[in-house]
Amino acid sequence: MDVPMKHKVEISKGTFNPRHVAIIGGYGLMGQWFSRFFSRKGCSVVISGRSGSKCARVAKKLGVQAASSNKDAIKGADLIVLSVMADRLDGVLKEISAHLEEGQRVIDITSVKSVPVKLLHKYVRKNIALGTHPMFGPSAQAKGQNFILTPTSGKERAFANDLSAYLKRSGFNVIFMSPKKHDNMIGAMLSLTHYVGFVTGDTWRSLKIHKFMTTSSTSFRFLESFVKSIVDASPELYSYLQVGVPNVHKVENEFARISREWAELTRRKDRKRLKSRMYRIERYLSRI
Ligand SMILES: NC(=O)c1ccc[n+]([C@@H]2O[C@H](COP(=O)([O-])OP(=O)(O)OC[C@H]3O[C@@H](n4cnc5c(N)ncnc54)[C@H](OP(=O)(O)O)[C@@H]3O)[C@@H](O)[C@H]2O)c1
Repeated sequence: MDVPMKHKVEISKGTFNPRHVAIIGGYGLMGQWFSRFFSRKGCSVVISGRSGSKCARVAKKLGVQAASSNKDAIKGADLIVLSVMADRLDGVLKEISAHLEEGQRVIDITSVKSVPVKLLHKYVRKNIALGTHPMFGPSAQAKGQNFILTPTSGKERAFANDLSAYLKRSGFNVIFMSPKKHDNMIGAMLSLTHYVGFVTGDTWRSLKIHKFMTTSSTSFRFLESFVKSIVDASPELYSYLQVGVPNVHKVENEFARISREWAELTRRKDRKRLKSRMYRIERYLSRI
């Protein structure tokens, strides 16, 4: 590794402005996004990953530094971003925890929060660690995107306030919530969204819908672009979100129950009830 310029890691007092950022999992989709983001903010960025050759190749493309190991990557960093899948977090934290330097901040960006935040607390004892979830994918622009922070103590909240100010200066919309509330929200919103996309795609596959594609309507094309955006994303991540977020099956069971009710009204040709339910949804959505 081209060793980053060493400097004493300073504990921020009211302002957070990292100069050197280490991104573990840095050649992955979000790791590359954050490498570009912090580089544009003027930070020196170092990335690490499991494959040294891939790390070097991607680092060269991004114009950042490549570390030969996770342990090497964190040397001298103000901020350490853990950009690995949630089921890799335990191993990564175990690897780096004994090498953390005074004042270094650690954030994870996994899409679930309860278990990752517990792991941060288990392994990051002396430093401040914060659970975060960028609510966007690797092709997004920063401006206007939601960024969730999940502080669980006074010192985490102080850091979250500093980080929030830093993110807001780049145009993010920052939201604080507890890890538990975050996971409930993800179950009801994100996992259900993916479920609807996959189940719709699977239904089309079963109905051999491609035969009718040339006669599609505007609303079908709208749905098609939504389904394709879900199906084109990472099965590794989305399958994890189905099983790794608590209570997703309850949300999906509710969706299946309501689907059956609708199918039954259609089978009975009960137009009156169908209309009344359509009006009921319209009224509900107009209030939120
Ligand atoms: N993609 C999204 O839309 C999105 C949005 C918000 C948050 N997130 C979260 O961001 C995180 C990363 O997601 P992603 O989409 O960027 O996934 P990804 O492309 O698979 O990136 C994860 C990276 O972690 C690396 N890695 C695995 N084990 C490692 C280890 N022990 N040490 C160092 N690196 C390791 C992987 O390297 P190998 O490929 O060599 O295994 C891979 O490059 C996940 O927690 C996800 O939930 C994703």
